[in-house]
Amino acid sequence: MPQSDYVIEVDNLTKAYGKQEVLRGIDLKVTRGTMLALLGPNGAGKTTTVRILSTLLKYDGGTVKVEGYDVTDQADKVRSVIGLTGQSAAVDELLTGRENLVMMGRLYRLTADSAKARAQELLEEFDLLKAADRPAKTYSGGMRRRLDLAVSLIATPPVIFLDEPTTGLDPRSRLVMWDIIKKLMEKGTTILLTTQYLEEADHLADQIVVIDGGKVIAQGTAKQLKAKVGNDRLELVFKNTADFNAAVEALGKEVGDRNEKEFSLTVLIRDTNTDVKRTLETLAKHQIAIASMAIHKPTLDDVFLSLTGKQKQATEEDK
Ligand SMILES: Nc1ncnc2c1ncn2[C@@H]1O[C@H](COP(=O)(O)OP(=O)(O)OP(=O)(O)O)[C@@H](O)[C@H]1O
Ligand SMILES: [Mg+2]
Repeated sequence: MPQSDYVIEVDNLTKAYGKQEVLRGIDLKVTRGTMLALLGPNGAGKTTTVRILSTLLKYDGGTVKVEGYDVTDQADKVRSVIGLTGQSAAVDELLTGRENLVMMGRLYRLTADSAKARAQELLEEFDLLKAADRPAKTYSGGMRRRLDLAVSLIATPPVIFLDEPTTGLDPRSRLVMWDIIKKLMEKGTTILLTTQYLEEADHLADQIVVIDGGKVIAQGTAKQLKAKVGNDRLELVFKNTADFNAAVEALGKEVGDRNEKEFSLTVLIRDTNTDVKRTLETLAKHQIAIASMAIHKPTLDDVFLSLTGKQKQATEEDK
């Protein structure tokens, strides 16, 4: 078996659909037993990257290896070590959940008995026992995602690709899915997960790569990225111009953005407790009343704004 330090290794990957360049030189490296989150907005190239990695799609340039196997020359080897789930799911709508699992087990060359046993195990683990004998087309979105993931785990592959596993799930189902993913990680599975949610990448991944317009625009740990993205912001709104002006004066250089017409301003906060407390104390000391206040966490939009210095839509022009 070929040896490599990285379980997933992508160098300078390019891909075009006709004249549209969709991937413009992507590099990714994932070490064994860790998770890399590929973070990006709609159309960034996440699914395209995952489909190439899982041998479902040809690419134009660069090298792509999984477990040291080349995805073009050794596609069979690659398929034997990966599980894939997500936007291009392998579930058959007409079969029941259990039938889907058993069928996939047989596809992976398990005996009939062990396919059945493994299916039962997964149905229990993914809380699908009650729905096990209903056709998959009757499943809710959340159940469907869980079945997707269960199907991809029938043969417990060492490498798994999860393409937006939680998009469209309600908050509770998202937490269930996070738990399932964490269990996979505890088993030492190497995972590449795509997501549009900074919070999800933050919560699960060891390493985050942000892509936009088919290019890597930032990478690092959640902590490193957040430091680049900026901190939480405290937004304060005042009742009138007098209070607003007094606040600007009292807070001095702590004031970030301001909007005179709306009597509002923001203060960057590093540590929520101490910074909010200090800001409020300063205002109280000057007897300035606040009409309303809110704390804003950095969003994916903030990431793009601070990383590219422009709104997302502008990236098409920088080719
Ligand atoms: N089969 C195809 N033919 C032509 N263009 C395509 C095809 N598949 C994807 N694209 C285009 O490639 C770009 C990247 O698509 P991709 O599906 O990889 O994005 P994504 O990051 O997965 O987005 P989403 O978050 O919406 O799933 C988009 O502009 C998309 O329109
Ligand atoms: Mg996609």
